[in-house]
Amino acid sequence: MARTPLLMGNWKMYKTVAEARAFAEALGQQSQKLDSRIEYAICAPYTCLHVLRVMLPAQVRLGAQNVFPEKEGAYTGEIAPGMLAEFGTKYVLAGHSERRMLFGESDQFINQKIKAIVANGMTPVLCVGENSSQKEDGVTKEVVTGQVLQGLDGLTADEVGRAVVAYEPVWAIGSGKTATPDDAEEVARAIRAAVAETWSPEAAEGLRILYGGSVKPDNVASFVREPDLDGALVGGASLDPTSFAAMAEAIKGVLE
Ligand code: 13P
Repeated sequence: MARTPLLMGNWKMYKTVAEARAFAEALGQQSQKLDSRIEYAICAPYTCLHVLRVMLPAQVRLGAQNVFPEKEGAYTGEIAPGMLAEFGTKYVLAGHSERRMLFGESDQFINQKIKAIVANGMTPVLCVGENSSQKEDGVTKEVVTGQVLQGLDGLTADEVGRAVVAYEPVWAIGSGKTATPDDAEEVARAIRAAVAETWSPEAAEGLRILYGGSVKPDNVASFVREPDLDGALVGGASLDPTSFAAMAEAIKGVLE
């Protein structure tokens, strides 16, 4: 597989600094389970980034869960892309369904964030996914490809080829339900086709597509085994270091 597999945790609004330190220590003790052919990242609350930068095993990259698309200014409570980049943050999530739903983020605003992330030398992780009524209506691919094209709009083909898209069906997040690997693969293939048509076949080939939604150690391999799925974006199961390491081992099993 030409694309490097990516196992990414999204901690959401979990973990104090002390808890993040304990996670990093425990994962460090299991770092022999982190195969170097796989890339790892944790998207943590801002307050945990410093301790993670200092303490995470070197193979695990830093990620943020959000960013505000301006260099600086009177935006109380927000964090600028340059502040994250200075910190050594490699990945930044944009368009997570929780932010779309709870904070009313539009595709246009998400696109501004994606451009700001790229302009600051970091890698955007654009989260997309249909909700349950859209799934019932059979419009999953239209919804998801629409979110991808709007989210990545204005990026060059090279930039798209280095980006990450996480396909997370909204109904699968935190529910214990997952898409079937076949269904997730079909959506990933539709994303790649839309990217090939809009940018270039090379951009579509380079883009990494993760599956997210109730991923656990016992199901992660079934997704990563699909040709168009390059890893996983994991919420709940990324909070426990042993479970994170078990997912790393499961992905390693796919490579062998
Ligand atoms: P869960 O893995 O807890 O379902 O969360 C998925 C998610 O939203 C990751 O961004």
